[in-house]
Amino acid sequence: MRFAPIVPATMAMGALAARPFLTSPDTGIDDVLGDTPEGTLPDLADIIGLHDFEWAARRYLPLENYTYYANGAAGEWSLRNNLEVFYRYNWRPRQMTDITGLPNTLNTTILGFNFSAPFYISPCARGVSAHKEGEINLVKGAAAGNILYIPSGYSSYTFQEIQAAKAEGQVVFQQMYLTGNITQDTEYIRNLEKAGTDALVLTIDSVAGSNRQRAQRFGVGSANTQFVRLTWEYYDQLREITKLSIAVKGVTSVDTAKKAVEHNVPAIVISNHGGRNLDGSPSALEILLDIHAEAPELLDQIEIWADGGVRYGGDVLKLLALGARAVGIGRPYMYANAYGVEGIEKVTKILKQELITDGGNIGLERLGDVDKTYVNWTPNQWLA
Ligand SMILES: Cc1cc2nc3c(=O)[nH]c(=O)nc-3n(C[C@H](O)[C@H](O)[C@H](O)COP(=O)(O)O)c2cc1C
Repeated sequence: MRFAPIVPATMAMGALAARPFLTSPDTGIDDVLGDTPEGTLPDLADIIGLHDFEWAARRYLPLENYTYYANGAAGEWSLRNNLEVFYRYNWRPRQMTDITGLPNTLNTTILGFNFSAPFYISPCARGVSAHKEGEINLVKGAAAGNILYIPSGYSSYTFQEIQAAKAEGQVVFQQMYLTGNITQDTEYIRNLEKAGTDALVLTIDSVAGSNRQRAQRFGVGSANTQFVRLTWEYYDQLREITKLSIAVKGVTSVDTAKKAVEHNVPAIVISNHGGRNLDGSPSALEILLDIHAEAPELLDQIEIWADGGVRYGGDVLKLLALGARAVGIGRPYMYANAYGVEGIEKVTKILKQELITDGGNIGLERLGDVDKTYVNWTPNQWLA
């Protein structure tokens, strides 16, 4: 099946320019929690959805710390598009199906490892910008929810400290930024193996730095500013030096996804880095639509993970409907870390509950039954 084309770009940009940039919907939080003093956090019990964590973090954290997490590249159009793209496509819900078993079907495997849900904590640098325990909280929070955590190569804690904080039997992958120098990168990978990392995720979308004006204003721009030589030949070389799986993160085209299959990559992360690197790069949902239209065979050839702008269980569900095996969540977990481990656990609980609710409302008997027929892929016009 081919999908209707996404709206003409000029129309979309015109409509976007006419509206203010809202990173969160108005759900009444200001009315209820608006008198929370700056520099304090509302009770975690009053936090209802993932957007609420951003609201709370924005008031609580030093502005430059919040800005480091929040910022996107250039005019932040990709960041905006990541959030809005989900609402261009309405569900095609089915009724009168037996959904009562659905809550027991959230578990999945990612690279063959078992997890309780098909979503995970995406790698995000500088965990201590939200909490002094930084990534240690994230690894503990992931264990509590039995979900995957992929720490960033630019974490505040070392990978040895993060791996050492794992619970018994917990699986934690490791995101890597490499230098392109085989001697240096080999040594790094050896050290990751020694530390006990379970799989590697090589980020390929950040080879040329990024234009982050909001962050630069506060002196918290990207840690990654070098031009790096990363090629498929280099990927093949890396595969020779380790038995660990090396997934590739930051795929934004069908062509790169095809190349990944040719080079026996076990998994790709379709991601525009949360809109932080190249403004104008498409969202994961749009790239998945391209895959369906141009190379649907890829969906059976490689494990596909996707991230960017996911704030509701329904957003996770739409990416699963397009064939993603796992969906990454970045900023909401970082903001939730202001509350420590409990905040991280709460994000997971909210998302699981929303997945079950929305999955039930579209008529799924099992989460794995979701496919592209549950969504109308003709974009609706009000957000076009
Ligand atoms: C504060 C922050 C730091 C990030 N650091 C990294 C990183 O070190 N490595 C990486 O591959 N991606 C990094 N990302 C991108 C995330 O892994 C992920 O692709 C993105 O956050 C998903 O979008 P979302 O924040 O809207 O969920 C970072 C994102 C944020 C928000």
